[in-house]
Amino acid sequence: MKKFLDLLSEEMGKAFEAAGYDGTLGRVTVSNRPDLCEYQCNGAMAGAKQYHKPPIAIAGEVAEKLADSPVFSETAVVAPGFLNLKLSEEYLLQVIREIAATPKFGLEKPEKTKKIMIDYGGANVAKPLHVGHLRSAVIGESIKRISRYVGHEVIGDAHLGDWGLQMGLVIMGVKERQPELVYFDESYEGEYPKEAPFTISELAEIYPDSSAKSKEDAAYKAQAMEATYKFQNGVPGYRSLGRHIVNVSVPELKKTYSSLNVEFDLWKGESDVQYLIPEMVEYMKEGGYAHISEGALVVDVKEETDTKEVPPCMILKSDGASLYNTTDLATIMERMRLYHPDQIIYLTDKRQDLYFDQVFRCARKTGLVEPETDLKWIGFGTVNGKDGRPFKTRDGGVMRLETLIQETKDEMYRKIKEGREMPEEEAIKVADLVAVSALLYGDLSNQASKDYIFDSDKFTSFEGDTGPYILYTIVRIKSILTKYKEQGGKAEGLAFKAACSESEKSLMMALVQFNAMMQSAAEETAPHKVCAYIYDLANAFNHFYHETKILSEPDEGRREGLIALLQLTRDVLETCIHVLGFSAPEKM
Ligand code: ARG
Repeated sequence: MKKFLDLLSEEMGKAFEAAGYDGTLGRVTVSNRPDLCEYQCNGAMAGAKQYHKPPIAIAGEVAEKLADSPVFSETAVVAPGFLNLKLSEEYLLQVIREIAATPKFGLEKPEKTKKIMIDYGGANVAKPLHVGHLRSAVIGESIKRISRYVGHEVIGDAHLGDWGLQMGLVIMGVKERQPELVYFDESYEGEYPKEAPFTISELAEIYPDSSAKSKEDAAYKAQAMEATYKFQNGVPGYRSLGRHIVNVSVPELKKTYSSLNVEFDLWKGESDVQYLIPEMVEYMKEGGYAHISEGALVVDVKEETDTKEVPPCMILKSDGASLYNTTDLATIMERMRLYHPDQIIYLTDKRQDLYFDQVFRCARKTGLVEPETDLKWIGFGTVNGKDGRPFKTRDGGVMRLETLIQETKDEMYRKIKEGREMPEEEAIKVADLVAVSALLYGDLSNQASKDYIFDSDKFTSFEGDTGPYILYTIVRIKSILTKYKEQGGKAEGLAFKAACSESEKSLMMALVQFNAMMQSAAEETAPHKVCAYIYDLANAFNHFYHETKILSEPDEGRREGLIALLQLTRDVLETCIHVLGFSAPEKM
């Protein structure tokens, strides 16, 4: 279906043409003075120059052509030449009927459906997830869901960090504790045990201990680097330990991610593309892209138009070791071979901007991707505490993501228990659902690139621009619908009726914007647009609800029309929260 504003603009364009003017002047927008009108058109002002005529005269002629318009019930000409518009309730009803009867509420498939890979999450095995990992996970997940909803094919990849120094640190930590294990016997030739020599809770201690030690003890750090080197270069015992680290970590990571409704299609890691590095290096050398500079192998990526210094992309260090970007480039190579995506989207902290600039330029210059492959990096801002500094625990430590999730759930549980009677088990379930909405909405309602303040009181509030407020609204609608059914009302095939009040009309006008909103949220990879939309929609609904008798409406036809409107509102809201990554309980 066409976007609602396009439908209005078409009608307006026809009037401009009928009056002898260019139809493209008839662009209609939502009124920026809702106290004066619902929609407006400023085309007469633009036309004044083109036609050397006072705008008020043009507006007057256009308004005349709209006298019998089925779309606008009122067209007021206001000095110096605005067209202030009021929508016909009958026309709005027609569009509401159509969106309710069209799949995805009238959202059209994109002209070209793409295959998109999203690289998000970025968890490092053996290390706990911290609050910084929240954003990559929830924004990435939402972009994945939005893109899928509009019709793209999307593959989400966790891109685990399983290759860096943390591997050597864990290996050293294990060695300190159990030096007798076969993994450290370099003359050992047998099979390595299938069971890991540590549990997840041991692993959770090994890494921080070892990392702390390496900061105080330079010799220990050197050993950890040596262990990393051996691991990376295929020393069998170290490789085997590396696999144990991944195998023990991943189920734990999955648990945390799934508590946020984050799911990956691929759980690939940095280690999975190491096999490609020699071939890639060879290719870059042979193609004349890479050259040796101070012993290292680099690809120049600066461009003439650069206003800042863009250093060369280093592929191999002078000792032959690969780097973070070597792995990212090899991953691009593998993704192109295995999946051939039209676009790869990355989500990381915004401080990695120069890094991704270098990697993308290098991938392009060396032809690792095709010219039409779009590489897109989305850099997100920092999660800050109320003091405006990066979010920390009370004692100043790094906030673990599990802790943050648990604290939010506990807080929500207290709130749920406060106001209502609810069986224990249900209270826990509901609190969990609502807490996730608080976390996700609290994050996603901010434009990704901006920093935001993690304010638990605000995020978990049932009022204001929050996840719980949206859920509360959905639950309110559901409970009216349940009562309606209990009273014997039929739930299907109800006919919509034209709006009888301003608030009902506003609700309808919010609903018809869904398809345009979702399309732009997808095109701009902007989940915050979905949040802004449902906040407006929930406000419009609650306003309408407070002013309208629904179940006690005496006229049966009208009551059915109201119920149909409630059902549509619920469906649109639930679709939106689904793409944001959370869901609503039946009661709360
Ligand atoms: N593992 C990295 C970290 O925790 C993030 C990985 C980001 N993605 C990428 N393709 N480089 O910092």
